[in-house]
Amino acid sequence: MDNEYKIPNHVAIILDGNGRWAKKRGLKRSMGHKAGFDTLKKLSKYIFKKGVKTLSIFAFSTENFKRNKEEVDYLMDLLVGKFREILKQNNNTKILFSGRRTNLRDDVLNALEQMEEETKNNTECVLNVCFNYGGKTDIVDAAKKIAEDYKNNLIDINDLDEEKFGKYLYNSIPDIDLLIRTSGEIRISNFMLFQSAYAEMYFPETLFPDFKEKDFDVALDVYNKRDRRFGGVK
Ligand code: FPP
Repeated sequence: MDNEYKIPNHVAIILDGNGRWAKKRGLKRSMGHKAGFDTLKKLSKYIFKKGVKTLSIFAFSTENFKRNKEEVDYLMDLLVGKFREILKQNNNTKILFSGRRTNLRDDVLNALEQMEEETKNNTECVLNVCFNYGGKTDIVDAAKKIAEDYKNNLIDINDLDEEKFGKYLYNSIPDIDLLIRTSGEIRISNFMLFQSAYAEMYFPETLFPDFKEKDFDVALDVYNKRDRRFGGVK
């Protein structure tokens, strides 16, 4: 059975290279994000069709607020105006929003919370949208919630273990099996630090707008060649 082709349960993608994709074509950075969105739409459909149950995407980091206002506004508008297209095509998908709910425009927060509410009973697969997200803040905010529960006598600190800690994160989701970062950058840039503890990592050179279904197939082949031991011996 060990030779069976494995489909990772949880895939996470750092969608990188939109800006360089646009620059290469003499376009504005926002056009790179538009092309990235179109890629994400097709790719998410394909990834779920392949049997992946959870897909996490790094759509906007807390640090991305350092970009100029025009670019930040474009990304916010994209989320409010277009993200539902992804929902419509991926039937029975539950949307989760991972990130700080402060400092976001009202319409952005409403769009994310509405999509979460509307899809909360969906069971086929999960699309975890990391927006205004940072891996360190995810852990720090969890620690604050734990301290609050401790103060109110709701938890016994001696009972706290990795599994229980994980439930205090923005969302309680399984560990990442395959983490992909496009565009050739080899770092995880504060993305899902707790959940990527044993993730297999793959760093293709392709810029995100060019990352198509066939490129995901290559990622799956790479994943299947990895020997996952989780610290043990085989
Ligand atoms: C990083 O590329 C990409 C982002 C900061 C945004 C990713 C967003 C999408 C793919 C669109 C879908 C998401 C939303 C908001 C609906 P970069 O701009 O850092 O590229 P560069 O490193 O080449 O400059």
